[in-house]
Amino acid sequence: MDKILILDFGSQTTQLIARRIRDIGVYTEILPGDAAVGGQAPEGVKGVVFSGSPHSVYERDAPAPDKAIYAWNLPILGICYGFHRIVHDHGGVVESLSTKEYGRAVVVHNGSNPLFSSIPGRFTSWMSHGDSIRRLPDGFSQIASSDDFPAAFSSEGKNLFGLQFHPEVTHCEYGSDLLENFAVGICSADKEWNMDTYLREASEHIRSTVGTKDVLLLISGGVDSTVVAGLLLSVLPAEQVHLMYIDTGLMRKFESEEVHRNLKKLGAHNLYLIDASETFLNALSGVDDPEEKRTIIGDLFISVQEEEVRKRNIEDAYLAQGTLYTDLIESGKGVGQKATVIKSHHNVRSPLVEAKRRKGHVIEPLDRLYKDEVRRLGTKVGIATDIVHRHPFPGPGLAVRILGEVTVEKCDILRDADYILIDELKKRNLYHDIWQAFCVLLPVRSVGVAGDIRKYGWVLSIRCVVSRDGMTADVYPFPVQDLLEVSALITNSVEHVGRVVYDVSSKPPATIEWE
Ligand code: XMP
Repeated sequence: MDKILILDFGSQTTQLIARRIRDIGVYTEILPGDAAVGGQAPEGVKGVVFSGSPHSVYERDAPAPDKAIYAWNLPILGICYGFHRIVHDHGGVVESLSTKEYGRAVVVHNGSNPLFSSIPGRFTSWMSHGDSIRRLPDGFSQIASSDDFPAAFSSEGKNLFGLQFHPEVTHCEYGSDLLENFAVGICSADKEWNMDTYLREASEHIRSTVGTKDVLLLISGGVDSTVVAGLLLSVLPAEQVHLMYIDTGLMRKFESEEVHRNLKKLGAHNLYLIDASETFLNALSGVDDPEEKRTIIGDLFISVQEEEVRKRNIEDAYLAQGTLYTDLIESGKGVGQKATVIKSHHNVRSPLVEAKRRKGHVIEPLDRLYKDEVRRLGTKVGIATDIVHRHPFPGPGLAVRILGEVTVEKCDILRDADYILIDELKKRNLYHDIWQAFCVLLPVRSVGVAGDIRKYGWVLSIRCVVSRDGMTADVYPFPVQDLLEVSALITNSVEHVGRVVYDVSSKPPATIEWE
């Protein structure tokens, strides 16, 4: 398949570049900016994008591409730092600005360059830079400007292009058109990337890797593992697919029943629902340190899993996992450099997974997809819309939403309140405006009145955020009347909750979960 390679120099928006181009229909892959690339472009690569960066090209340790990439003679588009990088590497001069330029800026061009084909001569772009070009290299020409700055250049002889602004950011007008002009118009990449093609390729890969062997998949109830289940069941005979769900006692209300019903609908045959709630809650008794709670849950998950796998004689099965492209990048596995692991939690540490990996017995059929693509694939394999568009739920479950010690009573209080919140959001058509909505039970009680009686109840926080991928998040501007009504419903129906507050912290500096 044709693809565009993206060299990541550490920009916050590298992933956005990759997605934007995929949305156009052209497949993208991200490589670390300084990756050794070899003398020839890999098969299918039709062009390259250099991302932005927090660095300046004139710094001593500024990240630089392997120079061999210029000898590929493929079109290269530099964005912001990538723009400066190309200029610097070809003998031009980049200098620091006395004032950085952030935010919207009008770009003007005369329409003669194919990069701006069909784009109005003036449009609003999005800038974020502290450096600018003092002198372009010989043979390069400025093709757009914004105020007094060069906003774009090209060097068609060498097939090099640069943009000072960020076409990948939604605030940039015609950003997608610009990327399409580059990927499709200039690089001639075919628009072959869609979920039908992916489904065909992934199915073929599963069939040829697994053959007639059994496959084990651990189900969390979330979107990713459910989509993998749907995919496996659409490709392999149901007898070959073993689905294991561990109820930790830290799940949401009716979660286990729903998982059971949904997987049966998908044609699950070997479905193991393991109630390990007592084991988990006993182990958590008296523990209030967040990290200790996470470690206990992670370790128990592994031991329960291994015991159940042994009991069922499926130790030799292949292991399927719902790893996404972002997980690979974030855990630094061969692609990106950043090491912040957000959700590969259970995937990475388990000895079961490591042993399977050594044998080459792990399949990760979503590992080239972003979350929104997983959702589209899920629909293709027959998963109901309300499951495909569910909010994410963390592996350690309610334990990271009950601050301090976790008890059955607190889990029940939180489950009841959370159920009301989600149910109301759905009824009020607000659920899909939100990336993640949930309740958090604080280790604080406060005074209130119920009728004429003094009530001493727990304080509960509602947390609703909007986000694209959970890496950053804004507070959801909950319509006030709805918020008041939902809060009243919670305090009136959940006996031990005396007070409800709304969390107004964005990420950063806060995280989405409270622990
Ligand atoms: P934070 O709290 O780090 O959360 O801002 C970002 C996203 O990751 C989810 N999350 C987890 N998911 N295991 C998971 O599978 C975990 O340990 C975990 N911790 C946080 C969180 O719900 C949010 O979507």
